[in-house]
Amino acid sequence: MTMPQTITIPKPDDWHLHLRDGDILKAVLPYTAAHFARAVVMPNLKLPVTTTERAIAYRDQITQALSEHMTFAPLMTLYLTDETNPNDLTRGYEDGVLFAAKLYPAGATTNSESGVTEIQNITSILDRLQRLGMPLLIHGEVTDPTVDFFDREAVFIDRVLRPLRRNFPELKIVMEHITTQAAVEYITSESPYGRLGATITPHHLLLNRNALFDGGIQPHHFCLPVLKREKDRQAIILAATSGAGMFFAGTDSAPHLKADKERSHGSGGIFSAPHALATYAEIFDQAGALDRLANFLSTNGPAFYGLPVNAATLTLEKLETPAVPDLKSILTPNGAEIVTFPNETPLSWRVIEKHPL
Ligand code: DOR
Ligand code: ZN
Repeated sequence: MTMPQTITIPKPDDWHLHLRDGDILKAVLPYTAAHFARAVVMPNLKLPVTTTERAIAYRDQITQALSEHMTFAPLMTLYLTDETNPNDLTRGYEDGVLFAAKLYPAGATTNSESGVTEIQNITSILDRLQRLGMPLLIHGEVTDPTVDFFDREAVFIDRVLRPLRRNFPELKIVMEHITTQAAVEYITSESPYGRLGATITPHHLLLNRNALFDGGIQPHHFCLPVLKREKDRQAIILAATSGAGMFFAGTDSAPHLKADKERSHGSGGIFSAPHALATYAEIFDQAGALDRLANFLSTNGPAFYGLPVNAATLTLEKLETPAVPDLKSILTPNGAEIVTFPNETPLSWRVIEKHPL
């Protein structure tokens, strides 16, 4: 009998994650804590995390939801609005409560209604971030209804990101969940390493936009930014698997109840936490880049953010026969269902769990 192929890497971090609060938080948190040592937690709750006080309360809610054997550190973000108080932001950052600030263009995605309406409205905040060295995490899509939905990211780069970086050249920026060749080209060509980075999700690496319509409309493949063309998928695969330091993992795991995804005007967001690492490993294996998996999952992010690499390790193993993961959905404490991703694609990899859920 041959031994299964395994790969052991420093325990990964998730540089972009939605945990929600209340019942959903309780249901999803164990899946992230099992595989990731730290995660940058997005602030787009129904009542967004717009002050340091709310970030403290949210951080406490997360740590209270952890069970004893879980060692997981949430890295908290502040949701920027037109009215963000720069002194509160400064205090939160200097006290170590806030890790980064998150820019949602108003209306771009889930719970972004209170986001920034015009980038000019936060000039003093951007200036403050730059002076503090506090990272700005960006949902990089325009909301202009005259722009084609699939071009929202590329147009954002030209209209907002290029001028922003000219005006604030020292600002540390992460373009979250990049989906296009345009974004990869911009980031690799413009970046003085260390100032501009990008996260990449498992779903944008695994699927192109055909998956939205395969056999009928597929609400569980709807996310924001929306899936793109195959040429875009190939570009982000090349970026992720290159080992280049500006690209790192951010799952954008974004749980919504099944019922909310399957209704008319269903929510955008894909719950990938349980199978995210297996999906990334699959992509890297197919690209012949397993030797660079640790860069993307475990070392590029800490280097970019100036944090230590995790001392703990995690092992993945290759199955003899690829299989669609068994766990197809999870339940909240109330019994509401949340569908996991991927739900139909066979994967050859799985994490060897230390504490099976
Ligand atoms: O697909 C997404 N879901 N993209 C986002 O930007 C937000 C997220 C969510 O919160 O559901
Ligand atoms: Zn997100």
